[in-house]
Amino acid sequence: MQLFALDLGNRQVKLMSEKATKVLPSYFVNAAEYGKRDVLALGKKEKEQTTSDYVTGRDADFTYVWGTGLDINRKRVTDTLDFNRRYDTLEFKVLADLALTELARDFKESTKSAIDVAVVTGVPTDDYDNDETIKHIRNALIGVHSASIDGVDHYVHVRSVDVLMQPVGTAIDAMVDALGNIKEDNDIEDGYIGVVDVGGGTVIINAFDKMNLDTKHRVQMEDGSYSLFTEIRNRIIDKGYKISEHEVEQIVRDGNDKEVYTWSPNGRETLDFTDMIMKERKLYTRNIAQSVKSTFKAMSSMRKIYVTGGTANLLIKDEFTRVVKIAHFVNDSETANVRGYYKYGLINEVTAVDEATN
Ligand SMILES: Nc1ncnc2c1ncn2[C@@H]1O[C@H](COP(=O)(O)OP(=O)(O)OP(=O)(O)O)[C@@H](O)[C@H]1O
Ligand SMILES: [Mg+2]
Repeated sequence: MQLFALDLGNRQVKLMSEKATKVLPSYFVNAAEYGKRDVLALGKKEKEQTTSDYVTGRDADFTYVWGTGLDINRKRVTDTLDFNRRYDTLEFKVLADLALTELARDFKESTKSAIDVAVVTGVPTDDYDNDETIKHIRNALIGVHSASIDGVDHYVHVRSVDVLMQPVGTAIDAMVDALGNIKEDNDIEDGYIGVVDVGGGTVIINAFDKMNLDTKHRVQMEDGSYSLFTEIRNRIIDKGYKISEHEVEQIVRDGNDKEVYTWSPNGRETLDFTDMIMKERKLYTRNIAQSVKSTFKAMSSMRKIYVTGGTANLLIKDEFTRVVKIAHFVNDSETANVRGYYKYGLINEVTAVDEATN
C-alpha cells in the first residue's frame, strides 16, 4: 500500500508520495483550446515537458491539458475555485482523478493494474465542521481512479481516506521530522500556538492548544491571493488594459523573487507595475496582520504564530512582524500542509489498513 498526501487547494494542488512532491494548478484547460500543439513543439524539443494530456475515466469525452507549465494566456480554464459545495462538483472530482494519477505515474505498476493507496488530505477548518463536506471529499477520493496520461493508462485504487483540518498539516510538519519521528522540544505538542494559512482562496487563522483547536479564537476569510490579484487587476484595468486574474498571478509569480513586476501586453511594449504591486502587497499584508491581531487577542500567551500557505510569499515580512511580533514564516510554505499530511500518514501507519477487509 502506498501513502499519497493531497492538498487540493483552491488555487494549487500540492501532492506527495514516497517518490515525489509536486505543485500543480487547481485548474486545467480543454485540449481544444490549446490548438495544434505538436506544431508549436517543433524545434523546442530540448525543452523539458511541463504539461501532459489527461483523459480521465470519469470524463472520458474530453482531453485536458494540465501541468506545472500550463499556459493559460487567452485560454478558457476549467477552475475548481469558488464553487459552492466544491467537493461535490464534477470539476473537483476530475481534479482529484488528475492528482491521484499524476502521483501514480511515478509507479510503473500503475500501468498494469490499480495500485493500492491510502490517502491523507485536509479541508479548511470551517469545512471540517460540516459532515456533508467531509462525506463529499471522501466520496470524491475513495475507490478506483483512472486516467490516460499522454496515452499511457494509470490506475489507482484508494482504499482509505483520512481528512484533517488544513492548518494541522503545517503544525505536524513543524512537529515531526521527515522519517515520522516527533521532534524533541517542539513547541507545538504541549504548547499554545497560532497558525495563519494564507492560501489562494482562503485565509485561515487558527490557534492550537496542545494540538487541540481553540474554538474561541478562530476565523476563516475569503481573502487569499485571489483577492490581492483582483485588486491588482482593477488597477491595471484602470490604466486601460484588459487582463485576467490568472495573468496577474503570472506577473506576480514571475517577478516575486526580485520584486520587480513587468508585463508585456502585446509583445511590443513592457509596462512596469512594481510600485503599484508593492503598494498592494503592503496593503494586503496590513489587512491580514490586523485580522490576526483581532482574532488572537491573547497573543502574548502564545509561543509562536506559524505563517504558512503559498501566499505567505506575498506578505511583506517586516510589515507583518511589525504587528505580529511572534510570527514565524514557515520554509517552503506552499507545501507545508501536504508535508504534514504525509507525516500524519507515517505516524499513524495509515498504509497498514487491513487489506483482507477490502
Ligand atoms: N514563491 C512564491 N512566490 C509568489 N507567490 C507564490 C509563491 N508560492 C506560492 N505563491 C502563490 O500562492 C498562492 C497559492 O497558495 P496556496 O497553494 O497555499 O493556495 P491554495 O492552497 O491553493 O488555496 P486555499 O488554501 O485557499 O485552498 C498562489 O496564488 C501562488 O501564486
Ligand atoms: Mg491551501
